[in-house]
Amino acid sequence: MNISIIGSGYVGLVTGVCLAELGNKVICADSDAKKIKGLKKNIVPIYEPGLEELIASNVKNKRLKFTSSIKEAVLKSEVIFIAVGTPSLENGEADLTGIENVAQNIAKYMDGYRLIVEKSTVPVETCFWIKKTIAANLKNKYKFDVVSNPEFLKEGSAINDFNYPDRIIVGLESIKAREMITSIYKPLNKPILITNIKSAELIKHASNAFLATKISFINAVSQLCDKVGADVTEVARGMGLDNRIGKYFLHAGLGYGGSCFPKDLDAFINIADKLGVDFKLLKAVRQTNIQQLEFFLKKVKNSLWMVKSKTIGVLGLSFKPNTDDLRNAPAIYLIRALEKEGAKIKAYDPKAMAKAKPLLKNVVFCKDAYSACRGVDCLIIATEWNEFKELDFVKVKKLLRRPLIIDGRNIYDPAALQALGFTYLGVGKNG
Ligand code: UGA
Repeated sequence: MNISIIGSGYVGLVTGVCLAELGNKVICADSDAKKIKGLKKNIVPIYEPGLEELIASNVKNKRLKFTSSIKEAVLKSEVIFIAVGTPSLENGEADLTGIENVAQNIAKYMDGYRLIVEKSTVPVETCFWIKKTIAANLKNKYKFDVVSNPEFLKEGSAINDFNYPDRIIVGLESIKAREMITSIYKPLNKPILITNIKSAELIKHASNAFLATKISFINAVSQLCDKVGADVTEVARGMGLDNRIGKYFLHAGLGYGGSCFPKDLDAFINIADKLGVDFKLLKAVRQTNIQQLEFFLKKVKNSLWMVKSKTIGVLGLSFKPNTDDLRNAPAIYLIRALEKEGAKIKAYDPKAMAKAKPLLKNVVFCKDAYSACRGVDCLIIATEWNEFKELDFVKVKKLLRRPLIIDGRNIYDPAALQALGFTYLGVGKNG
């Protein structure tokens, strides 16, 4: 099929290149001409494992191209995916001006039937408004369908998530739309759940909110574990063995970050409020997430006694491994808070340092993890990159001024590090 993706950000690029890989002819469009110019030269604006190579091979096979012309994208495709950003406004509400703009442009340029697939994360009823906006701006009465097809890709494993989804959700209301969208996803051979449009929109927000709830729940439990001397990893394992609970998203840590959970939770709470539903549970989830970082910060302060004039090594800056994304990254919050107290920070991240440099002007960025350990009073693990799991701790101990490791991601075995003479503090395992 001829498919256009409007919005070449994280979701748009991954979706576009994966649909091209399935054999479609895909045009990825974006109003940011600089980004498109870069993409045409295979300069990919984000780090996502495998993405650059996949883009290069699909461009070479002429299945994928880039344009800054929305007109070209609309004219040359029968299916248009909307994947523009929906950032948070001050009050937490999702800013849908990008979506409205795309809908107006689709209406302006379409010259026959189009299937419009809404993929950006949006509040319930957005598809209704997209439909209304297109209808109101159409010059000729061309037919079109709007479907809601939320995405569930995770940064760092997005290509794999696209190819092996647990489920594909599509909210739709016409047979033609059903036939077209199911034929696009058929090669994946995965279950497609067809729902009404509003249900599909709600499934996305409800899923992210539920996952955030699991994280905040286990983080609150980790604080209890710290108080009584239990081990949150054991508690989570014991809970997760119950199939009704499940083992995923029960890793206690520094709280959830990234571009999705914090924003989507705000938007979900906001739309619920607007509809007259006071979703108190989610407000508590959000509050617990903030509290978890404060709790960790207190742990760092207590173990150093005076933070002022101490040098602290921080391993990991991105909000999670395998990405260079720093949006709502707990590491950034921690570093700023510790600097405010007068600490000097040395940091290392395998992929996110270029993006971190403009945000953290006083931090000393190191060439590797060992350099970040040299002469510091304490080492904090803020992101669980695999390479941090394989450090040579005999070497690390020699480099640290004081053998204190505060592990915000619980990636080490406390007993092993204690046996080497470290003071080790994890999350929810230090009674
Ligand atoms: C999340 C969802 O998992 C995707 O399904 C969804 O498509 C995406 O948002 C989106 O809406 O676009 P993502 O934000 O990329 O994906 O990353 P996750 O792997 O879900 O992690 C989110 C945050 O939760 C990270 O800060 C991570 O460190 C934290 N987390 C995750 C925990 O603290 N504990 C866990 O057990 C799991």
